Amino acid sequence: MTTFDGWDPDKYNQFAAEREQPFWDLVRLLEPVDSPKVVDLGCGDGRLTAALSESIGSRSMLGIDSSIAMIAAAAEHSSEQVRFEVGDIGAWEQADSYDLVFANASMQWVPDHPAVLTKWSTSLRRGGQLAVQVPANANHPAHLVAAELAEELMDDPPPDVVAQNVLVPERYAELLDALGFDRQHVRLQVYVHHLASAAEVVEWVKGTTLTRFKEPLGAAGWDRFIDLYRERLLAVLGDRSPYLYPFKRILMWGQRN
Ligand SMILES: C[S@@+](CC[C@H](N)C(=O)[O-])C[C@H]1O[C@@H](n2cnc3c(N)ncnc32)[C@H](O)[C@@H]1O
Repeated sequence: MTTFDGWDPDKYNQFAAEREQPFWDLVRLLEPVDSPKVVDLGCGDGRLTAALSESIGSRSMLGIDSSIAMIAAAAEHSSEQVRFEVGDIGAWEQADSYDLVFANASMQWVPDHPAVLTKWSTSLRRGGQLAVQVPANANHPAHLVAAELAEELMDDPPPDVVAQNVLVPERYAELLDALGFDRQHVRLQVYVHHLASAAEVVEWVKGTTLTRFKEPLGAAGWDRFIDLYRERLLAVLGDRSPYLYPFKRILMWGQRN
């Protein structure tokens, strides 16, 4: 199982408003369906899972996440329709069962997207929809500086798996077509986030890409890493206030008839 449990629900939610927009953009791609049966893969703390269930009137919604911390936080969003389970979305598959397979900002953590999308799409019933959003921002200095610094400071730096896993948008279009989605929409969108300062980028990535360094570095090493990272990143971005953080994301939707 691909595990990833450096998640801190509070840290992740620090930029909740900015992170939420692509979620709702993805929801807007969905075709309305009466009382769909839905799975939300990599559901995080479940807040948006419950909001999705409400917004599309699902008859049942299952949120799956590998993080014990996230699933514990999700418990408060459980209801008659909505439930949560710990599980690995890279291996998840349930043949011919769902009207909607939804995954916002989670598939980037698992490798081999052709295989994963095959499993997810075979889990759809006839007419079912797949909706996935992944970040595609690995060439921003926030990521490049982190990888460069880790190479210098660590004997065996953990790789940027998101950069390794995420494919180019046109590859997803090919995959959806090959998987029998006769309707599809794949796009690369640049979200612009107006942050108070360039230094806020550090707070943003502390909740995402930098989490991979936290455990191997230990507490003292982590604090030192963050100080050096901030210094180096600001040298590249400029110590600007405010700062516009451009963030590319791929949104994909398909329907199989
Ligand atoms: C960036 S958060 C997105 C959460 C939620 N979908 C949202 O839109 O706010 C990514 C989530 O994917 C989960 N995740 C990462 N790898 C996973 C895996 N192999 N199986 C299940 N969940 C995974 C993480 O634990 C995390 O909660």
